Amino acid sequence: MSVRRPLVLPRQGEVARAARDGGAGASMSTQQRRPSVSACALTAPLSGEHAFCFSDRIMTHTIHVSLGARSYDVHIGAGLIARAGELIAPFAPAKRAFVVTDENVAHHHGAALNDALKAAGLEVFAFVMPPGEETKSFAGLESLCTVLLEKGITRKDLVVAFGGGVIGDLTGLAAGLVKRGVDFVQIPTTLLSQVDSSVGGKTAIDTPEGKNLIGLIHQPRLVLADSGVLSTLPEREIRAGYAEIVKMGLIKDDPFFQWCEALAGDVLRLDPLALTHAIATAVEHKARIVEADETEQGERALLNLGHTFAHALEAHGGYSTKLIHGEAVAAGMALAFDFSAAQGLCSGQDAARVKAHLNRAGFITDIRQLPGAPFDPEALLSIMASDKKAEAGSLTLILARGIGQAFVQKAADAEALGAFLKRETQ
Ligand SMILES: NC(=O)c1ccc[n+]([C@@H]2O[C@H](COP(=O)([O-])OP(=O)(O)OC[C@H]3O[C@@H](n4cnc5c(N)ncnc54)[C@H](O)[C@@H]3O)[C@@H](O)[C@H]2O)c1
Ligand SMILES: [Zn+2]
Repeated sequence: MSVRRPLVLPRQGEVARAARDGGAGASMSTQQRRPSVSACALTAPLSGEHAFCFSDRIMTHTIHVSLGARSYDVHIGAGLIARAGELIAPFAPAKRAFVVTDENVAHHHGAALNDALKAAGLEVFAFVMPPGEETKSFAGLESLCTVLLEKGITRKDLVVAFGGGVIGDLTGLAAGLVKRGVDFVQIPTTLLSQVDSSVGGKTAIDTPEGKNLIGLIHQPRLVLADSGVLSTLPEREIRAGYAEIVKMGLIKDDPFFQWCEALAGDVLRLDPLALTHAIATAVEHKARIVEADETEQGERALLNLGHTFAHALEAHGGYSTKLIHGEAVAAGMALAFDFSAAQGLCSGQDAARVKAHLNRAGFITDIRQLPGAPFDPEALLSIMASDKKAEAGSLTLILARGIGQAFVQKAADAEALGAFLKRETQ
């Protein structure tokens, strides 16, 4: 295959396994039907930073992330992939898009994106990686950077991360590294990546020493969160993403948590209005936090609510797929509220309300019942103490004074935490 030859995304049932061969996706014809979901025209922001456009049943939100020269828009709504070409083309001066995706996403949605990009006159190069966290590795990074270079990527080209957080993190890092930095766009396809990982510019791979330890901050030029693609996402992954939505209410928005209490069922059923409202609210909060603290010197750490506990639970189980990240985060948030209550920082009623909601949404919050139990409290404590958010010799936790009132607790009481973990695990 010649280096300059354009590659297109496969149609259903024609999944290219390029990354496994160490090469790029195979070239295929493209006669895929357009998605049946109709898109609402995006409009200029109506007011402030967050605008929305309403037409029949479909709502499109636009949230601006204001970071000076690195500012960008996040568009949220059903049917955005059909409009991806016209939305992305202004960021691709050489009219070439290097699309990185995984096999599952390529299978379900590859042809739709390919058609949309081609309709806008873009030449499409596609790189299909194996799905799964293992792809976010030095080996995955090397094979991706190699094919991008082999295909002659230049700094006028645009890289498109089309997938969940694994593809977004890996692709963002590769884009930040090749040729000392090429622009990239995020098209997140999991609920978790739409509400969290695609916004804020954090990119990374995992190493044997831990998750996300090699990475950089490389902001995308645009984020297109098409809520329509979530219809093919397994229910378990939808629930996992929902944990990161609730997290935003628990951190700083009590009214939004109340909205979640009332309408979680609609979000989990992918009701279009509830879903786009939930995604947009979570993104809005994340955008404001990233604007205030892009490099995580302070406030951005709040986004780790539940995560120090969650990482310990995940690491204890060897990052097994029996407990996926969002499930661990839900249990971790329950633990953070319980520990806050045990420390006299927030009321027991608030902690109970958090757990009741998470249970109703289908999460296990009693860690004795979680996949991977029984957990060794000393092992959990030692993993938490070595978490990358910990400063030398001191334990940093995100705790809460109530729902919507999370704060960063530096030099947390390790002895009290040890005793708490012992109680929770027995
Ligand atoms: N950069 C950040 O700020 C940040 C924040 C949170 C999480 N993360 C990272 O995100 C990663 C997890 O992301 P994730 O939960 O999206 O997992 P993922 O990317 O592994 O996707 C989960 C699964 O869903 C499949 N999939 C994706 N979209 C689909 C669709 N529309 N239909 C059907 N299947 C689909 C994938 O192929 C995969 O099998 C972790 O590596 C985590 O460290 C990064
Ligand atoms: Zn998370």
